[in-house]
Amino acid sequence: MADAVANTSPTLADGRLLLRPWCDADAADLHAAVRESVASVGRWLPWCRDDYGMAQAMAWTTHCRETWQSGTQFAFAARDASSGDLLGGCGLNQLNLPHRSANLGYWVRASRQGHGIATAAARLVARFGFAELGLIRIEIVTLPGNHASRRVAEKLGAAFEGMARHRLWAWDRAHDAALYALIPADLAQPAAAQKAAMSS
Ligand SMILES: CC(C)(COP(=O)(O)OP(=O)(O)OC[C@H]1O[C@@H](n2cnc3c(N)ncnc32)[C@H](O)[C@@H]1OP(=O)(O)O)[C@@H](O)C(=O)NCCC(=O)NCCS
Repeated sequence: MADAVANTSPTLADGRLLLRPWCDADAADLHAAVRESVASVGRWLPWCRDDYGMAQAMAWTTHCRETWQSGTQFAFAARDASSGDLLGGCGLNQLNLPHRSANLGYWVRASRQGHGIATAAARLVARFGFAELGLIRIEIVTLPGNHASRRVAEKLGAAFEGMARHRLWAWDRAHDAALYALIPADLAQPAAAQKAAMSS
């Protein structure tokens, strides 16, 4: 199914957010968003540095176009549906096609964090992964101390599956990571309803 999607350019929307595959026209907004977010996003994602320039932004949009076309990554720019402001990025990567799974990543620019944007964007992208790519499992892998990211995974309804040893390589060393996963049924009902069902 990933092959069939590779030639499309879908728009994901929920009324508040508009997600489209990254394109070259996003590069200037991406550059500005990254530069304002070095302290908060760069703490957890090594590519977000204060020397991030337009060349890196263009390289990212090119990489996203190529990997979308090859069906190896599906990365979206998230924008405010009303203002058009770039809010951040959310996408599926590290596809394991034989087993129909992928990794879900997200980031939100510093000035727009704390308003439910990551959770809403991640929900749209996870639904896309299950419905359009035919995935049966989507992982969220985060550094143990990244409480905001872990909370996003929990609010999505992902199950915490444990601490995976040496699951991530970043800043030139191995890190243990908190492993969460979604299966399609997890998105079938609101996370709050699931919690109530589990505790009854
Ligand atoms: C993680 C990130 C994407 C969250 O974006 P966001 O739009 O602010 O997320 P949401 O508003 O949907 O949810 C964030 C939740 O984390 C909570 N949170 C934020 N900081 C927290 C902290 N230090 N400790 C505990 N919870 C925290 C918020 O209160 C909120 O939960 P709530 O709705 O129950 O109150 C954003 O902080 C970010 O870009 N971080 C850097 C990049 C990153 O870590 N990406 C994930 C890599 S795995």
